[in-house]
Amino acid sequence: MIIGIIGAMEPEVEALKETMTDKKITNKAQMEFYHGNLWGAEAVVVRSGIGKVNAAICAQILADDFHVDVLINTGVAGSLHNEINIGDIVLSTDALQHDMDAVGFGYALGQIPQMEVWDFPGDRKLLSLAKECCAKVIPDTGVFEGRIVTGDQFISSREKKEWIKKNFAGYCTEMEGAAIAQAAYLNHIPCLIIRAISDKADDSAQMVYSEFLEIAVANSIKLLKEMLQKLSAN
Ligand code: ADE
Repeated sequence: MIIGIIGAMEPEVEALKETMTDKKITNKAQMEFYHGNLWGAEAVVVRSGIGKVNAAICAQILADDFHVDVLINTGVAGSLHNEINIGDIVLSTDALQHDMDAVGFGYALGQIPQMEVWDFPGDRKLLSLAKECCAKVIPDTGVFEGRIVTGDQFISSREKKEWIKKNFAGYCTEMEGAAIAQAAYLNHIPCLIIRAISDKADDSAQMVYSEFLEIAVANSIKLLKEMLQKLSAN
């Protein structure tokens, strides 16, 4: 089994790349794909860059060139729920794009024109494995399962946050997950988005984000380590 792991930014994948052994680095679309052994599993780790277009290109390369069997998107996100705090983890039940708007053409907000599915599901088996691993390695961290909403926007105002909450009932917001989930769906690859909360997606987001990025990333890395060990044992 080959596990594709995408992070948008360097801090989100740095530790994974450093830990990987027997690695071969391939360049494509200005991205570096690290293919090797990660905690006993065959994995390809890559920094996609930020936003939906980078993320979708990256996921398609993982499908076409590396034939990954599973896609995991790891990173940070802004919380959309009062109970979901900085450092907590959100696992994707589903993911959609909050900035997809063809309402003027008669589509629902968030619906991708001429597509029946626009709310892309997280893989149930990966989700339950992730939950089990969280309970084991980060038992004191809040873990939530819910919808992740993605857009090409860093959400840093209360107004926009409330608009997203009202229209999409998301648990957290970020800038790549639904694009990766869509690419995974189109290629029939099981996918899970794992996001650690770095900020509250409100007026404090910009300041809080940089302060908590490292803590948020550390939780995801612990979880990934346990998940990869389990996946490689199967
Ligand atoms: N990633 C982390 N925090 C975010 C936010 N507030 N908006 C979009 N993406 C994010």
